[in-house]
Amino acid sequence: MDFSLTEEQQLIQQAARDFAQTELLPEVVERDDAQRFPKEEVKKLGELGFLGMMVDPAYGGSGLDTLSYVLAMEEISKIDASTSVIMSVNNSLVCWGLEKFGSEAQKEKYLTKLSTGEQIGAFCLSEPEAGSDATSQTTTAIDMGDHYIVNGTKNWITNGGTASTYIVIAQTDKEKKHRGINALIIEKGAPGFEIGPKENKLGIRGSDTHSLIFNDVKVPKENRIGEDGFGFKFAMKTLAGGRIGIAAQALGIAAGAYELALKYSKERKAFGTEISNHQAIAFKLADMHTEIQAARLLVYQSALDKDNGNDYDLSGAMAKLYASKVAMETTVEAVQIHGGNGFVKDYHVERLMRDAKITQIYEGTSEIQKIVISRSILK
Ligand code: CAA
Repeated sequence: MDFSLTEEQQLIQQAARDFAQTELLPEVVERDDAQRFPKEEVKKLGELGFLGMMVDPAYGGSGLDTLSYVLAMEEISKIDASTSVIMSVNNSLVCWGLEKFGSEAQKEKYLTKLSTGEQIGAFCLSEPEAGSDATSQTTTAIDMGDHYIVNGTKNWITNGGTASTYIVIAQTDKEKKHRGINALIIEKGAPGFEIGPKENKLGIRGSDTHSLIFNDVKVPKENRIGEDGFGFKFAMKTLAGGRIGIAAQALGIAAGAYELALKYSKERKAFGTEISNHQAIAFKLADMHTEIQAARLLVYQSALDKDNGNDYDLSGAMAKLYASKVAMETTVEAVQIHGGNGFVKDYHVERLMRDAKITQIYEGTSEIQKIVISRSILK
């Protein structure tokens, strides 16, 4: 596979790197501490075209490929994974699904606002009892002829408080199991739609994660995405692409921690020399560098599979499984290399370590990725 980047891809990578350094880095520690949503920063991301990167310019998007998207995700995640998850959900789980499967009217009404960042979107699948086991939806969307009535609760919804447009997965016909599930667009402010309290999280604390409560919410039929019963397939197809974005986030977290550890090891002295001259540290750096590059190749491969029209369920799941493992292990080692300073917020690596953990959980746990991978290789 040819992973050489075009001039345009390199420019996008550089623009994301510059944005992360100038706009995200200065207050990243404060935002994490205060659990403050990066409102201004996300607005600027939208102005730069990073919130609808793969969307057709006819709908306000940047019309770029998936590889450009993962390059940007990696750079933003090196500095601020709270911002990159907001970006990832909006790009992969909301804009992509709407553009691919939404009606013309839905695209006109919602997609342009979402891809320019005028509005933010949320993808609502998880429930208190249905995170990994996504077919067991208890949120119901009862068919009332020209509309649905939605009841239920969704959990751990990224952008839950700040979004304006919510794609909600709900069960219409229990008898039909996963073939009786629908994906509905619900707007903030719809009567009966309540936003639950914000979660106090271990990591990605700048992003806002909420439960959502639906009490007899009336949703017009024209807000259903695709045919009746398409909701589960919609969710699976959307998540398959979303996993590439989260794999790129994990890669960025790992690469960010490695870059900090490398720099620190050349500055910090112990036993009369820079600690990078001690093999105990140099070998850690060698492992980190190797594993990050392996993760990067998997992430790029999955992006290219998607861009080239190949199946990307397997490569996306492998990229997410491996990159999230590397993110966890690399950030722990980066803290270790920093010693006592690694435990202090100003050095950033403790935050990256906390942020890394979620990449092994959301958009399918590592165990779910192994289900997807093993099914694919055994079929
Ligand atoms: N593409 C298209 N269709 C797919 C598919 C895919 N990738 N994966 C499954 N399907 C289809 C199957 O073909 C099948 O359809 P038919 O019966 O018509 O053939 C149907 O979906 C059911 O498939 P399975 O029998 O394989 O379903 P399952 O119950 O065994 O589950 C699973 C499969 C992979 C475990 C799935 O439930 C899953 O991915 N779970 C994890 C869900 C998840 O990622 N949750 C995270 C929430 S979102 C989030 O985190 C967002 C955020 O805020 C950051």
